[in-house]
This record gives sequence, structure tokens and C-alpha cells, in this order.
Amino acid sequence: MSDAPPHRLPGDPTPAVEIARILRVDHAGEYGATRIYQGQLDVLGHGRARDEIAHMAAQEKRHLAAFDGMVRARRVRPTLLHPLWHVAGYALGAASALMGERAAMACTVAVEEVIDEHYQGQAERLGAVDPALSETIEAFRADELAHRQAAIEHGATEAPGYEVISAVVKTGSRLAIWLSTRL
Ligand SMILES: [Fe+2]
Ligand SMILES: [Fe+2]
Repeated sequence: MSDAPPHRLPGDPTPAVEIARILRVDHAGEYGATRIYQGQLDVLGHGRARDEIAHMAAQEKRHLAAFDGMVRARRVRPTLLHPLWHVAGYALGAASALMGERAAMACTVAVEEVIDEHYQGQAERLGAVDPALSETIEAFRADELAHRQAAIEHGATEAPGYEVISAVVKTGSRLAIWLSTRL
């Protein structure tokens, strides 16, 4: 592989614009993740599942703090949809947890699978342009995959209606990514 930046076509965003979009959407996504887990934690009673989610939530806060720092340092405009993700993330977390611990875990599996693809694509695109950011995203991606694995170990795929929960949450997550990249 060469270190040359990938070819740009007329009308493609410049690297600076591309990086700003990446930081905006990732900042929004990590914020959404903290809200999902907050919604779940507020609903779930004490137990093994809750402890696992509290651990995931702590890592999401760390991811969010990192993107928060980068957004400020590089003067990237945060998403205009922040208030929406505040409410929608929390609602998704609370609703999934109201369906039970396994449904809450099914929600995590779906979100993390979308984030995994999303971060993988970004890390590849950034490789030559901003290697440090690419590495950070890869490190966070590893955390997200660990969350997915933990959720599976907590019975996610045995949740009643797993396929439906997965499809709905994935569609919502992809829409949130699409919107936060642009707005
Ligand atoms: Fe995260
Ligand atoms: Fe996560």
C-alpha cells in the first residue's frame, strides 16, 4: 500500500472538511451512546447486566471526552442535532431496558455492529491523512467490539424479537450517523 492520499474527484470534500465531518459525527455518536446507556441504567435493577452496562457507559464517557476535546481543539461545529440525540438516545436505552435485560443487550449489539463498520471505514480513509486520529478511532472500535461481545455473553441474541430489535436499532443508528455527518 502506498502512503499517497487517496485520489479525490472534483466535488469531493477536502481532507479538512472530511475530518471535520468525521469528528462531528463521532462526537455525536459517542454522546448518543452515553445517553442510551444512561436510559438503560435508569431502568434496570441491580444485577450482573447493570454492572456490565455501567462498565460500558464509563468507556463511552471516555470516548466522548476524547472527541469533545478534538472538536474544541479543531474548532469543529458540533452537530445541530445534539438535543435530538439527547432525547432519542435516552429513549432508546430506556425503551430497550423496559423490554428486559436481554433486549437492552440486543440494542447494544445492534448499535455496536453499526459503529464497528462506521469506525472501520473512517480508520481506513484516515490512515494516510491523519494517522493519529485513525489510531484513536481503531482503539475505540476495539472497545465497541468488546461491548458487542459482552452483550452477546449477557444473552442479547436470546432476547424475544431479537431480529426485529436488531433491524430497527440498526436502521435508526445508520440514520443518526447520516444526519450527524451532514447536520
Ligand atoms: Fe464509544
Ligand atoms: Fe460502545
